[in-house]
Amino acid sequence: MGTTTVYLNGAFLPLEEARIPVMDRGFLFGDGVYEVIPVYDRQPFRLHEHLARLQASLDGIRLANPHSTTEWARLIAQIVASAALENKWPDQGVYLQVTRGPGPRDHAFPKIVQPTVFILPMPLSPPAAESVEHGVAAITASDNRWLHCDLKVTSLLPNVLLRQLSVDADCAETVLIRDGQLIEGSASSVFIVQSGVLLGPPKSNLMLPGITYDVVLELAAAKGMQYAVRPISEAELRSAGEIWLTSSTKEILAVTRLDGHPVGTGRPGPLFRQMHAHYQTFKHSVMRGKAMP
Ligand code: PDD
Repeated sequence: MGTTTVYLNGAFLPLEEARIPVMDRGFLFGDGVYEVIPVYDRQPFRLHEHLARLQASLDGIRLANPHSTTEWARLIAQIVASAALENKWPDQGVYLQVTRGPGPRDHAFPKIVQPTVFILPMPLSPPAAESVEHGVAAITASDNRWLHCDLKVTSLLPNVLLRQLSVDADCAETVLIRDGQLIEGSASSVFIVQSGVLLGPPKSNLMLPGITYDVVLELAAAKGMQYAVRPISEAELRSAGEIWLTSSTKEILAVTRLDGHPVGTGRPGPLFRQMHAHYQTFKHSVMRGKAMP
């Protein structure tokens, strides 16, 4: 497959040659933020929304944005173009990370901040047809993350440990519950369907404002699907007719087993099938067309 070109602090270079100082605060403290932007047919999807969320994450950790939106768009376009030259992935996930850069090992911010900017193209494979057809299994766990899950920060240790619980249980995701309410997955947003109505938990400081979550709600509105955004109790989650996971990499997946129990009929439900079809049509028409997604 050859090398992968990445961007690091002003330079485009092979991944193997990309180096950061060990005193980088991203390494020492997980002091940074990130985004994962899906690219379909070499077009970044919802780029401005991802860059707006990046800005919100940077504001949340009090780190100045090192680039304007135009600069980010240009850098991402260059990474996508490099992958094209290397004959890689018309569809890809562009991972980008900004840390507070190198400094003494002191919790306090360095006096002079030189942020580290890293952009990495990754293959983006849609979920296996089998997972779409039959759904996936998930477990629940108590959400023990901090109170700023709305920020997409690189300090992901709680998410990593929560996700590993589902790996250990041979499941696709860990669905998080806090104070008796459904929040989201360890790396995805979660919706349920109750009596034919799509329900999504409201955005708050406790969950990441998912870009795919917004797309799903926009599609629900556009297609006349009944939906509501409101708090969802653990009891409602457990008695839901359908449960969905959404993310930039998973798109939309049905959870058909939760904690070992079948969800609804134990098969992906009718609303899931509709929304999955809407999402695919949307992706193929809008994202793969030249219209601005
Ligand atoms: N994760 N919630 C959490 C905790 C997430 O990590 C993600 C995405 C989402 C869904 O957000 P979006 O629809 O914008 O992808 C919700 C990414 C893909 C990751 O960390 O790899």
